[in-house]
Amino acid sequence: PPAPHRISTGSLPGWDEVDRLVIEAHAYAKASTDGEIATYIPRLAAVDPELFGVSVAEVDGAVHTAGDAEVAFSIQSISKAFVYALVIERLGHEAVRERVGVNNTGLPFNSVVAIELNNGHPMNPMVNAGAIATTALVPAASAEERWAAIQDGLSAFAGRRLELDGEVYTSEADTNQRNRAIGTLLQAYGRIDADPLAAVDVYTRQCSLLVTAADLAVMGATLADGGVNPVTGQRVVSASVARDTLAVLASTGLYERSGEWLFEIGLPGKSGVAGGIVTVSPGKGAIGVFSPRLDPAGNSVRGQLATRFLSQALGLDVF
Ligand code: DON
Repeated sequence: PPAPHRISTGSLPGWDEVDRLVIEAHAYAKASTDGEIATYIPRLAAVDPELFGVSVAEVDGAVHTAGDAEVAFSIQSISKAFVYALVIERLGHEAVRERVGVNNTGLPFNSVVAIELNNGHPMNPMVNAGAIATTALVPAASAEERWAAIQDGLSAFAGRRLELDGEVYTSEADTNQRNRAIGTLLQAYGRIDADPLAAVDVYTRQCSLLVTAADLAVMGATLADGGVNPVTGQRVVSASVARDTLAVLASTGLYERSGEWLFEIGLPGKSGVAGGIVTVSPGKGAIGVFSPRLDPAGNSVRGQLATRFLSQALGLDVF
């Protein structure tokens, strides 16, 4: 059963206690074999479904791990949160809110209907439409320059150089007709200025960056720490950008399940179809998890269980 709620005190328990609870959360959630691996990106179907890693990074730079927390997987939609932060950093709060939006669509992440229902507006940066529109906003003279800015920026969040998984990238690039349609539909509505297919290609590359559960924890802890990576000490984005990113994650990070997520876990989070989830507790730290079996909305089943356990046991819940 989940651990009882530890009432939030404004600080985490001591190092040994956090370490012990990370191991306990991993053992607790490992018992579940529910969910299915994503197969619509063919390369993802080849992953070992039993892999399971849990990590917590604290804003003082301590990193705790259990299980397969150092196994690399593609970041997928979790990239959307960090690219969004980089774009607000460059363009500002107002411009990005107007172009990309902050409201939940109530529909799945790859919905075309949501675009049609909203007069072509992408609605928020976490669904594919909004993420493609956000990637297209990264200031750059070419798609290559845009990609380089994203790879460098996400690497700064992680505190190490993140590399592309070429097999995942080509597998998705060969099968992403739907995302190309979304990009072209946004162009038809005048919601994207850059070449939409080039933007979709950069988006596909950003989704194919390899991370570990421990990387996700550090990336999330950078947002928890007001934009400063607590391991490297580098300021990656301003404190107000970190705040804006977390606010939009709270309402849209788990798509049409975002309300349930906030109700159960009480923290902003972002999931990806490879099985990663990052969850951020402002001022305290972040949880990174990886387990490939997903619920019907595309969110890791074990990842959600371990995150709920830790949110409760560590008193991370903001409510
Ligand atoms: O665009 C896609 O479909 C994937 N590259 C990312 C989707 C994703 O991770 C959805 N999240 N749970």
